[in-house]
Amino acid sequence: MTILLIGGTGKTATRVAASLAAAKKPFLLTSRRGPDAAPNGYPAVKFDWTLESTWSKLFENGHVEAVYMMEPHVPQPWIPMIKFVDFAKDKGVKRFVLCAGTTAAIGKDGMGRVWEHFIESRVDYCVLRPSWFMENLVEPGLVYTISKLSKIFTAAQDGEIPFVSADDIADVAFHALTDEKSYNCDLRVLGPEILTYDRIAEILSKVLGRRIEHVKLDEAGRIDNLVQAGLSDHYARFVTRLEVLASQDFEKATGDAVEKATGHLPKSFETFAEENKAVWSAS
Ligand SMILES: NC(=O)c1ccc[n+]([C@@H]2O[C@H](COP(=O)([O-])OP(=O)(O)OC[C@H]3O[C@@H](n4cnc5c(N)ncnc54)[C@H](OP(=O)(O)O)[C@@H]3O)[C@@H](O)[C@H]2O)c1
Repeated sequence: MTILLIGGTGKTATRVAASLAAAKKPFLLTSRRGPDAAPNGYPAVKFDWTLESTWSKLFENGHVEAVYMMEPHVPQPWIPMIKFVDFAKDKGVKRFVLCAGTTAAIGKDGMGRVWEHFIESRVDYCVLRPSWFMENLVEPGLVYTISKLSKIFTAAQDGEIPFVSADDIADVAFHALTDEKSYNCDLRVLGPEILTYDRIAEILSKVLGRRIEHVKLDEAGRIDNLVQAGLSDHYARFVTRLEVLASQDFEKATGDAVEKATGHLPKSFETFAEENKAVWSAS
C-alpha cells in the first residue's frame, strides 16, 4: 500500500517523503520532470495535473491508499484536481490530504472547490491551511536581499503573521496521511508566535549580528520592486496582493493544530533563523 506525494519536489512533499522513509512506509513522488527530479533517489514518476495521459501510471505500481496534493499554478486549478480525485477514487484511493492556504474556504473558487468535492464524494480527507512558510525566507529572492542588501522588502506593513516551518506542515501532513483515523476536517497549521516583518528583521539582526531592515513599500512600489527583481507582472501582483491582505491582518490567527497532530510544539522563527543563518551570510 503506497502513499502518493504529488508535488514531490516541493517544500512540504519532500519532507513528508523523508518521514515516510523513516517510518518504512512505501511512497511514490511525482514531478513534471519525471523520476530524475526526485531528491535522495526516492521513487518517483512523471505527473502533470494538466496532462491526463500521465495519471494512470501513478497507479501501476501497486495499490495507492492515500494522496498528498497541492494546486498547480494554472487557471482554475480545481477543475483538473476534482477530476483527478474522482479518477483516484475509482482506482481505490480512500484518503486525500490537500495542502492549501489561509484563503481556502469550502465551496469558494480555489482550493475550496476541491475541499467541497472531498465532502460531496464522501472520501476521507484533510485540508491543511498553513500560514506563510518560514522557508520563504530561504528562497533565492529573499536570500539575495538579506545577504547582499541587509533588507527585506514587503507590502505587509505591520501585518501579523504566524509564520510556520515546512517541517511542521509536513509533520502534520504525515499524520493526516497515516494516522489510523482520518481527520476529515481542515487544520490551520500555524507557527508558535505571531510575527511582523519588523520582528523577523529584529530576530535576523540578532542571529546574524548585523542590522537587517524591513522596508515597507506601498502596493505600487512593491509590484515595481518585484518586477525589477525579475518576477512577471502577474506573479508580482499576486505576491503583493497577499502581502496587502497580510497588512490587514488576514493571516493573524492562533491555534494548536501542530501540537495536537504531532505531539510537539511548532518550531520558533528564532530556531529556524539559527538553523539557516549560513544561507544569509553577507560574504
Ligand atoms: N509559501 C507559503 O508561504 C505558502 C503559504 C500557504 C500555502 N502555501 C501553499 O502550500 C502548498 C504546498 O507548498 P509546497 O512548497 O510544498 O509546494 P510548492 O513548492 O509550491 O511545490 C509544488 C510542486 O508542484 C509541482 N507542480 C507544479 N505544477 C504542476 C503541474 N502542473 N502538475 C504537476 N505538478 C506540478 C512542482 O514540482 P515539479 O516542478 O517537480 O513538477 C512543485 O515542486 C502550495 O500550494 C503553496 O501555494 C504556501
